[in-house]
Amino acid sequence: MLLVTGGAGFIGSNFVLDWLENSSEPIVNLDQLTYAGNLENLASLRNDSRHIFIQGDLGNRELVSQLLSQYRPRAILHFAAESHVDRSIHGPEDFIQTNIVGTFRLLESACAFWRSLGQEERSQFRFLHVSTDEVFGTLSKTDPPFTETTAYQPNSPYSASKAASDHLVRAWHHTFGLPVLTTNCSNNYGPFHFPEKLIPLMIVNALAGKPLPIYGDGQQIRDWLFVNDHCTAIRRVLESGQPGETYNIGGWNEKANLEIVRTICSLLDQFKPKSDGTSYSAQITHVADRPGHDRRYAMDASKIERDLGWKPKETFETGIRKTVHWYLDHPDWVKNVQSGAYREWINQHYEAQS
Ligand code: NAD
Ligand code: DAU
Repeated sequence: MLLVTGGAGFIGSNFVLDWLENSSEPIVNLDQLTYAGNLENLASLRNDSRHIFIQGDLGNRELVSQLLSQYRPRAILHFAAESHVDRSIHGPEDFIQTNIVGTFRLLESACAFWRSLGQEERSQFRFLHVSTDEVFGTLSKTDPPFTETTAYQPNSPYSASKAASDHLVRAWHHTFGLPVLTTNCSNNYGPFHFPEKLIPLMIVNALAGKPLPIYGDGQQIRDWLFVNDHCTAIRRVLESGQPGETYNIGGWNEKANLEIVRTICSLLDQFKPKSDGTSYSAQITHVADRPGHDRRYAMDASKIERDLGWKPKETFETGIRKTVHWYLDHPDWVKNVQSGAYREWINQHYEAQS
C-alpha cells in the first residue's frame, strides 16, 4: 500500500494511473481538491478497489495519522503542493501553508508512524518528496545545467516554498533518521495538465481563438519532460533510490517558450486547420514579463541514469504531438475545468499583464 498526496493533480493523477496500470499494489490518495485537483482525471478508476480516495488537507495531523495507522503504507509519495508560479506572485499565503507548513506536519506524522513500525517494516519504509528544479534559481545561456550539488537560490515565492520543504525533508532525515528520497524535476507536460500552465494554456487559447500571451521576449528556456517519463523516474527512485539522496529528473530537452508556442501552433495547423486558412501563430501576442522571471532552467539528469538506470523515453517532438492530440480528443475535460474560479483567475491575471 502507498499513500500518495496530491494524486488528483496533474502529475499525481498521472502517477496513480500509471502505478495501477503496472502494479497490483493499492494506493490511498489524499487530496484536498483545490482548484487544481480534479477527480475526473481518475474517472477510469471509479470502480477500482485498489484506489482509495480521501478528500482532505495534508496538514490535518489527525486525519493523516488516522490514515497511516489504518492503511499502514510502506511509502508516502508527496506530490501535493500549490504549484503555479504566477499564483504565488499574486498570493503567496497558500504556498507557505501547503508547501511549507503542510510538508512539516506531514513529516511529523510520517516520522511518528515510521517510529511505531517493527524493524523490518521500518527499514523498508520510504518518504518520497516530489520537488522541482526551480529551487536552484536561474541560469544564463552558457551556464552548465543544475546538478544535485548546485546551491539553492529560489527566486519566486513558489520556488522559495518548495526549497523550504526540501530543507525540512532533508532535516528529518539527518536529525530523525526518516528514510527520505527527494526528486527535483524539470517542467512536465502531457495529459491532464491544468490550463493555467504554458503548454495547455496555449493549446486551449489557440483553439478558442484567443490571444497566446508570451511573457516578455519569450526567450526564457525550460527543460521539458513528458509526464509519463516523470512517473517512471519516481517509480525507479522509490524502488532503488538511496535514503537521504536527491535525484535530478529532466528531459534533456531545453526549449525557449516562443519555440514551444510556435510548435504547438504548427501542430494545430496540421491537426485542426482554421477555417479561414490562417495559422494559429497569428494569435501570438507579447505581454508584460513575469516579475522575477527565471531566464533558464536546465537539468543534469546523469546521476539518476548512472545510479538507477532511468532516462526519458519520449522526445519533445513525440511528447508534444501526443499532448496536442490529447487536448483535441478531450474537449469535455477542458470545458469542465474552465469553471468560474478558472475564469476569474484568467481575467485577473492577464488583465494585469496586458
Ligand atoms: P497540481 O497543482 O496540478 O496539483 C497539486 C495537487 O495537490 C492538486 O490535486 C491539489 O488539490 C492538491 N493539494 C494542494 N494543496 C493540498 C493540501 N493542502 N492537501 C492535500 N492536497 C492538496 O501540481 P502538479 O503540477 O501535479 O505538481 C505536483 C508536484 O510536483 C508539486 O509538488 C510540484 O511542486 C512538483 N513539480 C511539478 C512540476 C510541473 O511541471 N508541473 C515540475 C516539477 C515538480
Ligand atoms: O520547472 C518546474 C516547474 O515548472 C514546476 O515546479 C512548476 O510547478 C510548474 O508550474 C512549472 O513552472 P514554470 O513557471 O516554468 O511553468 P509555466 O507553465 O507557468 O511557465 C513556463 C514558461 O512559460 C515560463 O517561462 C513562463 C512562460 N509563460 C507562462 C504562461 C502561463 C508565458 O510566457 N505565458 C503564459 O501565459
